[in-house]
Amino acid sequence: MSGTIEFFIDGRPVTGRAGQTILEAAEDNGIYIPRLCHMKGLTPYGGCRVCTCLVNSRAQAACTQPIAPGLIVDSDSEAVREIRRQIIEMLFVEGNHFCMFCEKSGSCELQALAYRFGITAPRHPYLFPRREVDATHAGVFVDHNRCVLCGRCVRASRQSDGKAVFGFVGRGPGRRVAVNASGGLGRTEAATADAAMRACPVGAILVRGEAYATPIGRRPYDHQPIGSDVEEGGTP
Ligand code: FES
Repeated sequence: MSGTIEFFIDGRPVTGRAGQTILEAAEDNGIYIPRLCHMKGLTPYGGCRVCTCLVNSRAQAACTQPIAPGLIVDSDSEAVREIRRQIIEMLFVEGNHFCMFCEKSGSCELQALAYRFGITAPRHPYLFPRREVDATHAGVFVDHNRCVLCGRCVRASRQSDGKAVFGFVGRGPGRRVAVNASGGLGRTEAATADAAMRACPVGAILVRGEAYATPIGRRPYDHQPIGSDVEEGGTP
């Protein structure tokens, strides 16, 4: 069929549509490729590298790499899983993620990825950075200690809300998400109903009054690992 592209994921022949990324085509074929900065409806960013696959033996971000005829994608070998484990562990140690006290626990994609990959303790030393908490907005709370720099809030604010409330500033280890007003989020045009306020995969941006609203046992990842909605036999 015109526009249909045939390639291979983990030795299995699959098809996708021209213009799709490997991650999108994999998902259409019931194959979950772990991701963090990727969010449906937002432009792919390719920032976190959690979706790394070996594509014709080269490490590539599946969320930005377009499919092509005959590609050979390794999405789930031990070598690939180890790359992802290392990335996830580094995300944990370079921020302050205290899952047991976090309002996002049970709904947090970073925590869920750690469970999926069997990570109980990172192999790297914790950096314990000192970062700001922004409580200036009446409806939204921002804790930079939990930010993983995925940029989902930045893209959602621009692409979904038509605003530019969030943006990246700084370089290297000093890179962080900032708001477009001095004085904090409360001085911006941010609204509690903005898509950006619910785009965060971790507990860095939280809408006030929603914390712990879902009881333990009914949270998204209490019973099924992240990605099980994509995988065959999973529960949406
Ligand atoms: S999900 Fe692909 S780089 Fe983040």
